[in-house]
Amino acid sequence: MPVLPATDEAIAYAAELLRSGALVVFPTETVYGLGGDASNPKAVAKIFAAKERPQFNPLIVHVSDLAQAEALADFGPAAYELASAFWPGPLTIVAPKSPDCPIADLVTAGLDTIAIRVPGHPVAQRLLKEASGPIAAPSANRSGRISPTEARHAAAELVDIPGVILDGGACTCGLESTVVSTAGEDPVVLRLGAVPRSAIEAVLGHPIPVAKKDAPIASPGQLERHYAPQTPLRLNALTVEADEALLGFGSELPDCSAKAINLSRTGDLTEAAARFFAALRELDESGASAIAVMPIPNEGLGEAINDRLRRAAKAR
Ligand code: TXA
Ligand code: MG
Repeated sequence: MPVLPATDEAIAYAAELLRSGALVVFPTETVYGLGGDASNPKAVAKIFAAKERPQFNPLIVHVSDLAQAEALADFGPAAYELASAFWPGPLTIVAPKSPDCPIADLVTAGLDTIAIRVPGHPVAQRLLKEASGPIAAPSANRSGRISPTEARHAAAELVDIPGVILDGGACTCGLESTVVSTAGEDPVVLRLGAVPRSAIEAVLGHPIPVAKKDAPIASPGQLERHYAPQTPLRLNALTVEADEALLGFGSELPDCSAKAINLSRTGDLTEAAARFFAALRELDESGASAIAVMPIPNEGLGEAINDRLRRAAKAR
């Protein structure tokens, strides 16, 4: 896919492509998305084909505001509280599909719920307004691989796919949206992500569990092996073997003779999250025999980073 700087003209052109059923990669504050018209089954089928994605894995529908979301889903009190606290932003809300929901069945993979997000990135906002309809968009990587946080990452993932990539710079959050289901009795986190669980708990006023991976309500997309580089990862490493690259965190790094990247010298988890996927990609391309990953504190955004690391490290 060709990369275009996200000028007004490029956004207008991309909106035109979306209306015609073609695919567009666009930036959000979390990761780049591979978008298609969510009400057009052919456009949605192109997304699954481009990603080589298992069809049972449903997609997030992106809309420009709460009013558009309300046309697609039945929001209860918790969904409204979350939407007003976190939209526009890096939160995805799962709710029962409304009876007259115009979204293609393929998007929700036959479920009676739908995942909706209002992204805050200005390019995503302008594209959604110009395209005028909901856009289905998974992360713009091939299924199971590292999510793209820069336009060039998406270009490397999606060679030979027709459409365009809007370049809006590096994503500021760097981890996918947090997915919360409000479809059951009590809200549950289906996927840890860019909104820390503690922030959601503060808004709702009670603890929110993370769904077990085999719970019936769990996100079908939570495949155990995911976000995976080609190079093996070694987690919680305190020393680095010869030939190993290092993904570091904090002020003191062990000696490393191969490539080393520090996610945050000051131990800042927000900075670490923003740099995480790009760093993993760069170390994967460094030719090291393995990547040693230093421990990341399991608090705040660290919970989502550790979730990604654990999946990325699963043996093939
Ligand atoms: O940050 C993000 O969320 C990015 C940007 C582009 O918005 N998108 C993204 O989409 O990460 P994707 O397709 O890679 O992940 C969507 C997640 C999957 O885990 C999927 O199973 C879950 O959302 N999901 C979608 N619809 C669902 C539904 N109706 N019920 C439960 N989980 C759902
Ligand atoms: Mg993804």
